[in-house]
Amino acid sequence: MKVSLATKLIVSFFGVVALTGFVATFVGLRLIGRGIIQQAQDKVRLDLYSAHEVYYENLRRTETTLEFTVVRPSLQDALEREDKEELKAILTEVKEKGELDILTVLDRDLRVVCRANNPAVFGDSQANDNLIQWVVREKKVVSSTEIVPHEELVREGGNLAERATIKILPTPKAKPSRKEVETLGMMLKAAAPIFDQSGEFIGILCGGNLINQNYAIVDKIKDIVYHGEKYRNKDIGTATIFQGDLRISTNVPTASGERAIGTRVSSEVYDQVLTKGSWWIDRAFVVNNWYITAYEPIGNLNGEIIGILYVGMLEDKFVDMKNRTLLILLGITLIGVMVAMIVSYLLATRIVKPIKYLVYGSQQLAKGDLTYRVKLKSKDEIGELGETFNYMASSLKERDDRIKQFAQREIMKSQRLASLGQLAAGVAHEINNPLGAILIYSNLLLEDIHEKGPLRHNLKRIVHETNRCTEIVKGLLQFARKTEPRMEPSDVNELLNDVFSVVEKQAQFQNIAVSKNLSPELPTVMADKGQIRQVFMNIILNAAEALNGKGDIILATRLASTDHFIEIEFTDNGPGIPSEDLDRVFEPFFTTKDMGTGLGLSISYGIIERHKGSIFVKSEPSKGTTFVIRLPAKGEETKK
Ligand SMILES: Nc1ncnc2c1ncn2[C@@H]1O[C@H](COP(=O)(O)OP(=O)(O)OP(=O)(O)O)[C@@H](O)[C@H]1O
Ligand SMILES: [Mg+2]
Repeated sequence: MKVSLATKLIVSFFGVVALTGFVATFVGLRLIGRGIIQQAQDKVRLDLYSAHEVYYENLRRTETTLEFTVVRPSLQDALEREDKEELKAILTEVKEKGELDILTVLDRDLRVVCRANNPAVFGDSQANDNLIQWVVREKKVVSSTEIVPHEELVREGGNLAERATIKILPTPKAKPSRKEVETLGMMLKAAAPIFDQSGEFIGILCGGNLINQNYAIVDKIKDIVYHGEKYRNKDIGTATIFQGDLRISTNVPTASGERAIGTRVSSEVYDQVLTKGSWWIDRAFVVNNWYITAYEPIGNLNGEIIGILYVGMLEDKFVDMKNRTLLILLGITLIGVMVAMIVSYLLATRIVKPIKYLVYGSQQLAKGDLTYRVKLKSKDEIGELGETFNYMASSLKERDDRIKQFAQREIMKSQRLASLGQLAAGVAHEINNPLGAILIYSNLLLEDIHEKGPLRHNLKRIVHETNRCTEIVKGLLQFARKTEPRMEPSDVNELLNDVFSVVEKQAQFQNIAVSKNLSPELPTVMADKGQIRQVFMNIILNAAEALNGKGDIILATRLASTDHFIEIEFTDNGPGIPSEDLDRVFEPFFTTKDMGTGLGLSISYGIIERHKGSIFVKSEPSKGTTFVIRLPAKGEETKK
């Protein structure tokens, strides 16, 4: 399948941008998502510190209330006198001012003297109570969270036992439990020793708040920490106090919007906080929503874990925040990718357009329109390419023109030679017979004239010139001879040596150095040996004549680079041929010599042509002349 350059460019641009975009988005999302949740968790951890403060502040306040009360002489006095009416009045006043659920005074034997809520019940011993034992031992005020038995709550009166009785509701993810109702209470309790004026221990004042279904603390935590902030109509922040794993005071709502009293903590948190006694800071499923939560164990005076303090934020807000960030990031990436696509499209078309021009231009050149030129104005590599293209086209055109001219000249030359040959042959044939007659008759005349006759000299001259004419005519007939050469396998080196051995003895070769550079691996050629010898002789004699008896001749043979031809080269360092004559040396009768016929080279030309070979000349005036003959190697004739 052919894919265009523009498509490739666009696809690769787009690919890179999309890949980096989406990798960046993915990494960004993970980092941001994690960051948001991490931040929320850090905040909830701090919130738990605040909740802790609110919770224990409550305990301290109860402690303080008791401390201030036990130093009141009226209390000491009333206790010593066991004046129950007086005690009841004092306790009721303090209980109301201090917003306490219970306030009870014990005598030095740790028996109840008066209960603010329930003065009718008294005389029972509190000696088994942890806090009371601690005060007896230490003679100091103390406070802690304690589990209070149902009977004690009943004795304390008011609606405490009722408030503590909580129906346990089925809760998803909580630990399995068969218990249906909780009747124990959880109390923020304080106790302070009472001394008389002489500093003697005379009793204990004991007070506290029942946490069960009392929402003061959790709502205060919510207000202080979350300022009642809402998200989609739900409170973001929630706080809970657990008795064991049971929600006894909370502002976490159920599905119907009531406080989720009676539901229980998830079993995961149970194991971590109630069993192991450590904090839990993570997301957790609370009642029926996911929250980012923090849980802290609550211990009693003996250090046993009896409950949990919890704060949590609805996860929705953070999930939405994460999703919004995701959308924004994705949006930015998408816009970026789209912009990149547009830019890559524009860039690709800008790059590809001039290339298309060039392709079109090349096609025009290939079709033969060498005048086609591209117009590219850009000043970059593409522009350079355009200029180079145009330059190439001009060079091609120039070369094409030169080749055409050359071919035309060559055709004209061979046509001229052919028609000259025909003309010469015709003339020669016509002249041959009359010449014969002239010779016969002038010879007859010569016989008749006396040895010393005055006409004899002129007559001899006629016979001589007529003989010369006969020679010329013979040469002309040879040039235009129609008879095919008698071909036989011939060794060109041998033929050259034959010719050389004949001429070297002649006087005009005395001062000419002939060197031979003959290839020993020359293939044989099919040739008429006599005719080829005649050609070689002609060229060597021409060289010797040009050298005028002094100089160098080099004879060389070789296999041409194409392997289908052998080349024979004759080089002399004579005066050379003027360039205006170069084209004419093969014409019949072209000669620069007084006694020359001008037929030597034209006859040679005819012979080589009939051998399906070629002959040509190179010359530089005053440096020398080289004739080159090419003959097809044996077995290659047909390939020409
Ligand atoms: N080696 C050469 N150096 C310089 N000129 C040459 C050489 N060979 C040929 N010529 C030129 O080419 C012309 C034609 O040569 P060609 O052999 O056809 O005739 P010719 O030698 O003049 O006469 P003929 O061969 O009849 O004696 C010569 O007159 C000469 O001017
Ligand atoms: Mg000659």
